[in-house]
Amino acid sequence: MRVEPVPALVGHVAVPGDKSISHRAVLVGAIAEGETRILGFGRSADTESTVGAVRALGVEVVEDDVDELRVRGRGMRGLEAPDAAIDCGNAGTLMRILAGVLASQRGSFELVGDASLSARPMERVAVPLRHMGAAVRTTEGHAPVVVEGAGLHAIDYELPMPSAQVKSAILLAGVAAEGETTVVERLPTRDHTERLLERAGATVRRRPTSVSVRGAERLVLDTVEIPGDLSSAAPLLVAALTVPGSEVTVHGVGLNPRRTGLLDVLERMGARIAIYNRRQVGGEPAGDVEVRASELVGATVSAAEVPTLVDELPLLALAACHARGETVVRGASELRVKESDRLEGVVEGLRRVGGHVRTTRDGFRVKGVPARLRGGAFDSRGDHRLAMLGAIAGVSSIEGVELEGAEAVEASFPGFFGLLGQLAV
Ligand code: S3P
Repeated sequence: MRVEPVPALVGHVAVPGDKSISHRAVLVGAIAEGETRILGFGRSADTESTVGAVRALGVEVVEDDVDELRVRGRGMRGLEAPDAAIDCGNAGTLMRILAGVLASQRGSFELVGDASLSARPMERVAVPLRHMGAAVRTTEGHAPVVVEGAGLHAIDYELPMPSAQVKSAILLAGVAAEGETTVVERLPTRDHTERLLERAGATVRRRPTSVSVRGAERLVLDTVEIPGDLSSAAPLLVAALTVPGSEVTVHGVGLNPRRTGLLDVLERMGARIAIYNRRQVGGEPAGDVEVRASELVGATVSAAEVPTLVDELPLLALAACHARGETVVRGASELRVKESDRLEGVVEGLRRVGGHVRTTRDGFRVKGVPARLRGGAFDSRGDHRLAMLGAIAGVSSIEGVELEGAEAVEASFPGFFGLLGQLAV
């Protein structure tokens, strides 16, 4: 696909519901009692995989609208083992969190995924779930993953890497286990699972760097409203920031403080960002985010900050290309095990369009120039976040970008190119 430069981006838009919360709402709804109504469901290939997975487990899901679902829960241990493998598609969040849910169910469950997901590390969830009593087999550390459910017992576990997916898998196993399970995380990660479990009636105790959940008899979610996905708003916001004369507002975006690192770092770089109508949506902070094209300066991002913008680091690299001075990101080696090796993908991709970027041992460095990038060719490597990065590099470039693998955006944001087009003037 050819992405042409745009003179400016102007307007007001909303983005689909948060992907992380959408996966969780369906999965918790599946083990809750009664019907869970989900409003603002972020429909995408990844979250469709989650709906397909719970249906395969015997859960009825009624689709009232593209963004409205009803999940008829089967209770804490009511999921049925299907004969066939459960296909998680491209969705790492689904495979890892579902493994935690299945650890307490009756039967044996095989989880498979596409080529990208099958290359991602799975022992990180298998290890703690085995400690809790489940039998979990990976295929040399990868999918296919087979989970044999069991009566679980609580554990205390320190995460070896910052990962909300691993934490969530343990918490969802923990809520079905005997006793109180504690997960210690040196670097706090997104806490959507904790918030949802609390809403569903579980006893959750939270401290700055750990969280505990008690085994519960039952969960009841009722209605969950999901705010817009900041990770989907991010490409539009970075586009507005880097194309002179732009002014874009994304309405109803989730602003959980463990997700807003991109906004914090961009503000340090001099971005003109305003947040209006701060409110709570479904137990999560939300608001309307306005960004105006800004002159930026380089910044340093430390390992402690990385979990709060882990999925936005590729876009930060693009913003940094437009900033005066150097930007340094450290402690981001987790990017190597995302849907692709995102450190390599970002550096190779941005270089080919004229950016001065290089990888370091655990992150990257960008030498910014306050001017438009030249443009050129950009390969998404089949990774949705890189596809959106390439597209934004295109709209903010001089010559445009030939984007290979643009269709990867379907994983998280099928309407991405439509919304981008709406904002172009
Ligand atoms: C997610 C957690 C992060 C993030 C992913 C979504 C989640 O992954 O990159 O896109 O919903 O829990 P890790 O847990 O691997 O850091």
